[in-house]
Amino acid sequence: MSQHPAHVPAVFDDHIATVNRRWHEALAAQRFDAAVITAGSPRQYFQDDQSPVFRTNPDFAQFVPTDESTEACLLVRRGERPTLYFLAPEDYWHASPVPPECVRPAMDLEVFGDVDALRTALARAVATAGRSVLMSESTDSNLGCAAHNDAAVLAPVHYQRARKTTFELDALRAATATAVRGHVAARDSFIAGDSEYGINLAYLAATGQVASDLPYGNIIALNEHGAVLHYHHFDRRPPETRFSFLIDAGARGFGYAADITRTWAYPDGELQSEFAALIAAFDRQQQALAAMVRPGVAFPDLHIAAHRAVAQTLADFHFVTCTPSEAFDRGITRTFLPHGLGHLVGIQTHDVAGHQTSRDGTQTPPPSIYPSLRLTRTVERDFVFTVEPGLYFIPMLLRELRGAEAGRVVNWAKVDRFIPCGGIRIEDNVRVTEDGVENYTRAAFAAAGISS
Ligand code: GLY
Ligand code: MN
Ligand code: MN
Repeated sequence: MSQHPAHVPAVFDDHIATVNRRWHEALAAQRFDAAVITAGSPRQYFQDDQSPVFRTNPDFAQFVPTDESTEACLLVRRGERPTLYFLAPEDYWHASPVPPECVRPAMDLEVFGDVDALRTALARAVATAGRSVLMSESTDSNLGCAAHNDAAVLAPVHYQRARKTTFELDALRAATATAVRGHVAARDSFIAGDSEYGINLAYLAATGQVASDLPYGNIIALNEHGAVLHYHHFDRRPPETRFSFLIDAGARGFGYAADITRTWAYPDGELQSEFAALIAAFDRQQQALAAMVRPGVAFPDLHIAAHRAVAQTLADFHFVTCTPSEAFDRGITRTFLPHGLGHLVGIQTHDVAGHQTSRDGTQTPPPSIYPSLRLTRTVERDFVFTVEPGLYFIPMLLRELRGAEAGRVVNWAKVDRFIPCGGIRIEDNVRVTEDGVENYTRAAFAAAGISS
């Protein structure tokens, strides 16, 4: 919360008013008067006294975007401002969390020196709040609430999280600007010959983050490592020959995530220059996909368009000997693009409710041939999501295709030659406007002087 945008308090207050109203409507519909939303408690590893990094319950973070919130609780009462019960113990083992004074006047703030005092005060308030529901990972104590994690209350709240408030849009833009600084430094570090480990350090330094600040673990993949979709090693030594670099790395702004991928070819060598041409062509396809986004478009249709874009690229670069339509119809593109085109992004990198297609919680799963598609909703204004097509040379999937009938139209000599390059992913974060998108990622790269 040290990051709180104190310079735009009205925007934050409006955000809280909007989120509060969504909760009030959801509570009223289920005849609740109040909700207690807990931030969460730290965990410990099994048989150990060490803890993983604490992450706040996202429903809490939408009100108070900080991870310095262990044991904090929010009391949301219909018709009233929320009250934040915040824990700030005096401590010499750990730094004590700083009470987020900046949340005033959007909510009331009460600060406690120990958990028992906090829970006692909260239970007293719950006792006079009417019929309450507890929204919490823990079931250790119900704090006097009548229900726990009521799905019918959460459904409309989660559904509406797709549509961002002005504060959230600002936060996502800020996260993007930070991440892009890191991407520029990482690209330079790659060109300079650093290892994956060294590139990662360059990224962290340029973004001012430590690993626990990141919205998700960085993917810093040189050469064939780019074909491992969630590659989380950091080789300490650079490869003998540099072909390619795929970086999927983000940042957080006021708790909100940027999720950005770029792919670069090393600027020297024959294969590298062919790969650069492939990246450039695929980049044009990615931008064409982003240009199709507008309110009313069904995201699964964009995902299918991405597969057609992959088919076109495979044909243009003679990876297949058939037409783009045939490559699509035969399912060949699923070997080269095994993940979904994108997902909602917000407090969570993979934001909630990507498959939720109604306020009441109806789930629409992805088509069975595209099981990894995380977003099946129809696009609305102020949704923010990723557009991240990929084209990879994944030995495990290529082996399957090689043995299949469809494999006959693949130019295997060419495909095999590109295996050392790993693959391409280009991932932008876009906000849906009235008639198109605001591409946060491209705007931030352009501001950094890079047309990518
Ligand atoms: N960085 C994870 C993803 O792109 O979904
Ligand atoms: Mn993503
Ligand atoms: Mn990503």
